[in-house]
Amino acid sequence: MSSAIPGSDPAVSGGHPGASSGAPVALVTGASRGIGRAIAECLAAAGFTVVVNYASSTAAAAEVVTAIETAGGKAWSHQANVGDEEQVEALFKAVLAREGRLDVLVNNAGITRDGLLLRMKTADWQSVIDLNLTGVFLCTRAASKVMLKARCGRIINITSVVALMGNAGQANYSAAKAGLLGLTRSNAAEFAPRGVTVNAVAPGFIASDMTEKLDKEAILKAIPLGRMGRAAEVAGAVRFLAADPAAAYITGQVLQVDGGMVMR
Ligand SMILES: NC(=O)c1ccc[n+]([C@@H]2O[C@H](COP(=O)([O-])OP(=O)(O)OC[C@H]3O[C@@H](n4cnc5c(N)ncnc54)[C@H](OP(=O)(O)O)[C@@H]3O)[C@@H](O)[C@H]2O)c1
Repeated sequence: MSSAIPGSDPAVSGGHPGASSGAPVALVTGASRGIGRAIAECLAAAGFTVVVNYASSTAAAAEVVTAIETAGGKAWSHQANVGDEEQVEALFKAVLAREGRLDVLVNNAGITRDGLLLRMKTADWQSVIDLNLTGVFLCTRAASKVMLKARCGRIINITSVVALMGNAGQANYSAAKAGLLGLTRSNAAEFAPRGVTVNAVAPGFIASDMTEKLDKEAILKAIPLGRMGRAAEVAGAVRFLAADPAAAYITGQVLQVDGGMVMR
């Protein structure tokens, strides 16, 4: 990242055409920790005013906002369970009331409730589908109301390589993340006539709270680059897909950030 001064990055200066005045605005769901935090910091450094959504980590979200402001960027946080329709509506209402525009939505919030299918509780299936898939539908529907009207916008969905390859013990998570691929492509086709792009980023194994307990030795053997990915490396891909005009002609695509784990 060359600069931490909002608006100074030529990739986003002036924001997307058709949007109202002020710095372009990006909403990142699940931005209090891990990959979401890195995305929030990266987009703020690229000139976006960033809305840091989180579920329960109020102090961590406040820390992300402070880190962005200390680096010269603009951000504020908003608590909302993005799997809950009413809370999603309140989140988007707050964004529009405060900013009057939304240029980029990053659907990053996600959870795992791993277990072998035979023993998987229906509640564990449902909670993963509710947040990782339905939550993206709810946020995308809310964002599309603004973006389609403005005739511009970028929606970036954080899926996973397990959407492409499956994973024993993650039937719920893989199904939700594979569902995101269908959602991404369908929304890309539906929104393209109004200049709104929809893409997905599929990380491999990235060091974060989510992957902390996994067996690293087995994982590393499956990664040609021989190491876990960094949250900042996922953020870099998101920043590219959000950049204007660099990624303006890319839609319905899946960008893998996986150290070569899945080569297609
Ligand atoms: N780490 C990996 O290796 C990896 C690989 C592929 C894909 N991904 C995907 O990347 C995304 C981020 O993963 P991560 O590893 O950074 O996860 P993480 O460290 O566990 O962070 C999860 C984030 O999501 C938020 N969140 C959880 N439930 C939420 C809800 N109901 N509403 C709003 N926000 C909620 C959390 O907020 P609180 O702090 O408030 O709980 C937190 O900010 C997820 O979609 C994940 O599936 C991760």
